[in-house]
Amino acid sequence: MELGLNGKNVLVTASSAGIGLGVAISLFREGANVAICGRDAERLAAAQRKINSEGEGSILTVKTDLRENTQIERLVDTVISEWGNIEILVTNTGGPRLGGLQDFERSDWEEAFATVFWPVLSLINLVVPGMRTLGWGRIVFLTSTWAKQPRTGSALSTVTRSAIAGLSKYLALELAEHKITVNHVLPGPIQTERSRRLPEQRAQLDKNSIPSSQDPESLLKKSGVPSDIGDLVAFLVSDRSTFTTGTSIQVDGGQVRSIF
Ligand SMILES: NC(=O)c1ccc[n+]([C@@H]2O[C@H](COP(=O)([O-])OP(=O)(O)OC[C@H]3O[C@@H](n4cnc5c(N)ncnc54)[C@H](OP(=O)(O)O)[C@@H]3O)[C@@H](O)[C@H]2O)c1
Repeated sequence: MELGLNGKNVLVTASSAGIGLGVAISLFREGANVAICGRDAERLAAAQRKINSEGEGSILTVKTDLRENTQIERLVDTVISEWGNIEILVTNTGGPRLGGLQDFERSDWEEAFATVFWPVLSLINLVVPGMRTLGWGRIVFLTSTWAKQPRTGSALSTVTRSAIAGLSKYLALELAEHKITVNHVLPGPIQTERSRRLPEQRAQLDKNSIPSSQDPESLLKKSGVPSDIGDLVAFLVSDRSTFTTGTSIQVDGGQVRSIF
């Protein structure tokens, strides 16, 4: 299926590894130019080499800590000054700590919002004006199935990511007249560096926890890989997706059991 992403300028955040990198690779394979970011320069360089081996387009790497607003501003300025515009934005962030309500004080909540929510709002404020001028744009927010189906220890994740779900639904309403679609993708268990560390952390909170690679909640009885997320995102940000906006889609091997 031709997706029409050739030469489109894409910013994917938190993308030097894991799900974000998987999305960047999927879009690059479809001919897009991809800008990626992360905090560690060596990881970024390794990610650039990995993406480069998958296609022909341009790759931009910008060392960025998304918890620092001035660094987000510099990230967006760099991409726009190199390429002229950002036509597609995919937001991914670091994850918050695990724990229950009783484990956290106000400062922990502030840190979680600074990690997960404020960067996304800043990115929107900086990138959307250019999309309005273009009269076209695609936005995808990546969060987690924990936004929809909490599990023990997901307090910070569930609450901060639910805020992104609300932002996504609201923005879809406001931006539709500019031909900008806005969607929300919720990964379930995906094999990454982070997910390999997670079972250990979760086991401390929940004695019945099972490593996500064997997660019995996944109907398919396996975990996914980053390209499972990337390939869905590639469709959502493409010209082939013209009537899907304001929706939340989980990619989780059937982990979430609700009908809608
Ligand atoms: N893997 C799963 O099963 C799963 C499922 C649902 C949701 N999620 C969520 O998806 C997100 C990515 O998870 P992952 O499994 O792909 O993790 P990962 O393999 O550890 O990759 C995380 C990526 O984000 C970057 N990053 C982290 N904090 C950052 C920050 N403050 N500023 C800029 N970049 C940052 C990391 O680079 P640096 O460390 O170099 O900055 C790395 O490139 C997390 O929020 C996670 O909670 C994961």
